[in-house]
Amino acid sequence: MTAGAPTDPIPLLVPDVPDPLSLLPYLQRMHAARYYSNGGPLVRELEDRFAERFGLGAEQVTTVASATLGLELVLQSLGLRAGSRVLMPTFTFAATATAVLRAGHVPVLCDVDADSWLLTPDIARGAHATDAVDAVLPVAALGMPHDMAAWQRFEDETGLPVVIDAAAGFGSQWLAGASGTLVFSLHATKSLPAGEGGFVVSSRPGLAARVRQLANFGINLDPASHLPVGALAAVGTNAKMSELHAAVALASLACWEQGAQARRALQREMQDALARAADGRIAWQLAGPAGAIAAPTLLCARMPDAACRGRLEALCAAQGIATRRWYQPLMHRMEALLPFCTLLPTPQADALAETLIGLPFFPKMDPAQMQRLTRVMEQAMRS
Ligand SMILES: Cc1ncc(COP(=O)(O)O)c(C=O)c1O
Repeated sequence: MTAGAPTDPIPLLVPDVPDPLSLLPYLQRMHAARYYSNGGPLVRELEDRFAERFGLGAEQVTTVASATLGLELVLQSLGLRAGSRVLMPTFTFAATATAVLRAGHVPVLCDVDADSWLLTPDIARGAHATDAVDAVLPVAALGMPHDMAAWQRFEDETGLPVVIDAAAGFGSQWLAGASGTLVFSLHATKSLPAGEGGFVVSSRPGLAARVRQLANFGINLDPASHLPVGALAAVGTNAKMSELHAAVALASLACWEQGAQARRALQREMQDALARAADGRIAWQLAGPAGAIAAPTLLCARMPDAACRGRLEALCAAQGIATRRWYQPLMHRMEALLPFCTLLPTPQADALAETLIGLPFFPKMDPAQMQRLTRVMEQAMRS
């Protein structure tokens, strides 16, 4: 059977993790140091590389075991009173909401911008004016970066802390000279994969150090502290990144630029081909003031209407082409979350959820696979 045979399944995504041989030098270093976790040399090198990229001091960056835990610990580190109201978009991955709840707070679910699919400072201002909140947790939706200068102005105006869930935003989301706090994921499906992992970048004094401590159970390691070394300074958890995961992340970092370029080229090619197949009747997420996604990992189209999306889903299912309604159900449609959340009006997110479809997108997608995809798009538009 050839790669382009009509019955071959086409996956939604294929993780792009470096070849095991490229991990070997890092694994040998790990083994020689006999350091497998607890902030070993590879984790420290990775944190230094991130700090360098963000132009911050090493103390303003910390790795964590996942973005989910990074979000939980950042929220814990902000020192909000229990049950604080955290504004977040309803259009996101479930981890944004679970992190707020597990940190002991209440997700206040709000709308997103119709074009960028982001919770913007203007949406947050409107929400805060009618239903006061205590913090804001915007999401870099599908990796789309936020304008951090605009969020800094929002923080200055309102005094509310803002934390960006930039799980999918590595390479796209920067502080760009502004102050702020960003949480990234290094999950296998992200553009910088470690398998599992994440990191926190924060210009807020002491925040990254506090997250680092909480990720190590909350144990005091500072001999100058009033507490003995080894005593609990706070109730944390184990959210340390292991040296094995840092090895994968360092190997991924070594080829990230190349991968990002290929992802951008593939995105352009696929968007052009699909738009032609749909006679220009599909829409894409539009870049906001902070620019476009530097290393796209997903391809989401907005179909002209729900019926058309349904037809495309059925045609894809019949031909073994995987699709996914990314970030759906919306958070306010999740039964497990609803009793614990507050809901604001979400007309744009609701409209987005009616027509959004995630299509296969992965490096080394072959022309025959792309052709099958454009063919089903044509059919869905015609029927
Ligand atoms: C918006 C968002 N937040 C949080 C996460 C969780 O990241 P992790 O898998 O590193 O915990 C994801 C994962 O895809 C995500 O998309």
